[in-house]
Amino acid sequence: MSYLSIPYEGTTPDVSPDAFVAPDATLIGDVTVGAGTSIWFKCVLRGDSQPITIGRNCNIQDGTVVHIGGNNRPTFIGDNVSVGHMALIHGCTVESGGFVGMKGIVMDGAVIEGGGMLATGGLLTPEKRIKSGEIWAGSPAKYWRDVGPKDLELFAYTIGTYQDLAAKHKRACAMAGLVADARFQAAGSD
Ligand SMILES: CC(C)(COP(=O)(O)OP(=O)(O)OC[C@H]1O[C@@H](n2cnc3c(N)ncnc32)[C@H](O)[C@@H]1OP(=O)(O)O)[C@@H](O)C(=O)NCCC(=O)NCCS
Repeated sequence: MSYLSIPYEGTTPDVSPDAFVAPDATLIGDVTVGAGTSIWFKCVLRGDSQPITIGRNCNIQDGTVVHIGGNNRPTFIGDNVSVGHMALIHGCTVESGGFVGMKGIVMDGAVIEGGGMLATGGLLTPEKRIKSGEIWAGSPAKYWRDVGPKDLELFAYTIGTYQDLAAKHKRACAMAGLVADARFQAAGSD
C-alpha cells in the first residue's frame, strides 16, 4: 500500500522519489512534490484544473488541505516551507522560506513572502500579502510584529526536524509494508 495518487483529467501527481508521502495522504491530479519534502498523515492535495506545486524540503503537516483557488488560481509553495498541522492552503502562494502556523488558513490570491509568517490560527484573507520579515496573526490576520531571531530559529529547526522525522517515518512505514521502498525493506529483513 502507498498513498492514494489519483489521476484526474489527464494529469497525475508527480512526486519525487526523495519525498515522503504518508500512506493515508491523498494526492489528486496536477500535483508536484519536490525532493526532500514530506506530506504528512491525512493531508489532501487536490490539483483539479490547475497545478499545485510544492518545492523541495518542505513539510506539509498532518491534516492539511491544499487546493487550487477560484478563477483557476494555482497554488504554489516554494522550497523550505513549513505548513503546520491542519492548515488550509487555497489558491495562493507561499514563497521559499515562508511559514504557515498550525491551523493557518491562506485564502485565494494571498502571498506569504520568503521569511514571512502566518502565526498559528491566523486567517489570511484573499489577496493579502505578508512581506518578508513580518508575522501576521489573528482572524482576519493583521500585521502583528516583525520576525525575530527566535522565529528564524523556529523556521530552520522545523525544516530540519521534519526532514529527520520524514526519514524515520518513511522507514517505519516501509517496515510495516505501507510504503514501497526497497532500501528500507532490505534493512528491515536483516
Ligand atoms: C507567533 C508565535 C511564534 C508566538 O510568538 P511569541 O512572540 O512567542 O508569542 P507569545 O507566546 O510570547 O505570546 C505573546 C502574546 O501573543 C498571544 N499569541 C501568541 N501566539 C498567538 C497567535 N498565534 N495568535 C494570536 N495571539 C497569539 C499570546 O496569547 C500572548 O498574549 P498576552 O500577551 O495577552 O498573554 C506562535 O503563535 C506561532 O505561531 N508559532 C508557530 C508554531 C507552529 O505552528 N509550528 C508548526 C508545527 S511544528
